[in-house]
Amino acid sequence: MPPANWMNDPNGPIYINDEYHLFYQYNPNGDNWGSIHWGHAKSRDMVYWDHLPIALAPSLEKNEQHCFSGCTVVDDNGEPTIFYTSVGVGERNHTIGSEQWMAKGTSDLITWSKHRDNPIMTLDIHGDVQVREWRDPFVWKEADTWYMVLSGSCQGHGCVLIYRSSDLMQWEFLNILDQGKEGVWECPNFFALEDKYVLLYSPDLENDYRVRYKIGTLQDNFRFQSEFEGILDYGGREGYYAPTSFLDGQERRILLSWMPETARGDFKGIKGWSGVHTIPRVLSLRNNRLNIEPIPEMNILRENERSIGFQAVEGVFDTGVKGKALEVKLITEQAEEPFCMKFYRSPDGEEETVLWIDPKVEKVILDRSKSSLYSGTHSSAIEGKLTNTTQGQYRVHIFLDYSTIEVFINEETCLSARVYPKREDSMDVQIYSETKLLIHTLQAWNLISIS
Ligand code: FRU
Repeated sequence: MPPANWMNDPNGPIYINDEYHLFYQYNPNGDNWGSIHWGHAKSRDMVYWDHLPIALAPSLEKNEQHCFSGCTVVDDNGEPTIFYTSVGVGERNHTIGSEQWMAKGTSDLITWSKHRDNPIMTLDIHGDVQVREWRDPFVWKEADTWYMVLSGSCQGHGCVLIYRSSDLMQWEFLNILDQGKEGVWECPNFFALEDKYVLLYSPDLENDYRVRYKIGTLQDNFRFQSEFEGILDYGGREGYYAPTSFLDGQERRILLSWMPETARGDFKGIKGWSGVHTIPRVLSLRNNRLNIEPIPEMNILRENERSIGFQAVEGVFDTGVKGKALEVKLITEQAEEPFCMKFYRSPDGEEETVLWIDPKVEKVILDRSKSSLYSGTHSSAIEGKLTNTTQGQYRVHIFLDYSTIEVFINEETCLSARVYPKREDSMDVQIYSETKLLIHTLQAWNLISIS
């Protein structure tokens, strides 16, 4: 969480001088979206974070009202460099007038100065291709060449565009890398993973905001050839949006994302802050799909371990685990019928958040109908698709942190959501199965606070 106020997308994560730096879309003036700055924090382990001064503020004198999302690289002279989208009002509005700007940082990444040659790129670069909602640069280097992707809407369709440069200053538009249905794509990421390329984007398509990934190859004409398309996390606008990724010191591809506060709905009880980030996740390839796991560094927060071995469950199983900041790992031996895990549960069941796993229809469903006694919070169910199960074996890995739930199933299906349990005693964990469910192991830990 930021020290206070509004936060959205993670921006420009980078590993440098043995430290992780993370920037984020930030409004220092309130808990609503507006006057977007770049907030800044750093960490040695991606678990404990120190807040740092704001990195970028809008240059109002240049009609810049917002510093939208972007990325951080180290240039060929070793200087930290931010690319971001500069947005203003009037002709500089985000639909038709966004520009790509650059800022250079001191070696500690604390102080940033915008480059005198800004804008580095304007919409003219596309010639006849009509691009709107152009934003969110993601830059990387391959051999001696710098590449950038940006996203938006190309002739009315959500798209990602690709560019090339030898010096990060002069850019050449190469092609529309990929394009979809009507709407807008945001926050593109494009990177090599083993022998494939992965494309990530956050779509704004007729109320479907679920972040997508594609795995495939890059063709000679700079078009992306997709071989598999999946959903990175089923949370959507309610729980998971605008992720970005980076390579860390161990060559791991790490993914970070924003968990919005949308599900708070009309409930105004929590004032003064909005938005959190997910636990960092490690991406790898498995059978041409993304394998997604929480960073192992999270282990340092574990305390009070409970472990239950082989167990047959029929009806209610009270695990005895209690907490609102928890890590839970369930491995089933055999599951053929639907079963569920209940979290943030009050002893009388007045409040509970229920995670159903249904092997029959291969679905995971997060039932939030009783998640919160606060009126106005969203209570709709969130659904995801389960794949990759072998004979009813599910590896379910869950993190709770007072108002979050992050679910990983078989390292492949992710579902992140916000819930707002009101009662102090909403902290039981139960398992329920109508028919016999064979549990291989259940492990649980309370998580110590990082503050
Ligand atoms: C995604 C997004 C980005 C944009 C930023 C503005 O949540 O809309 O496309 O750069 O937020 O805050």
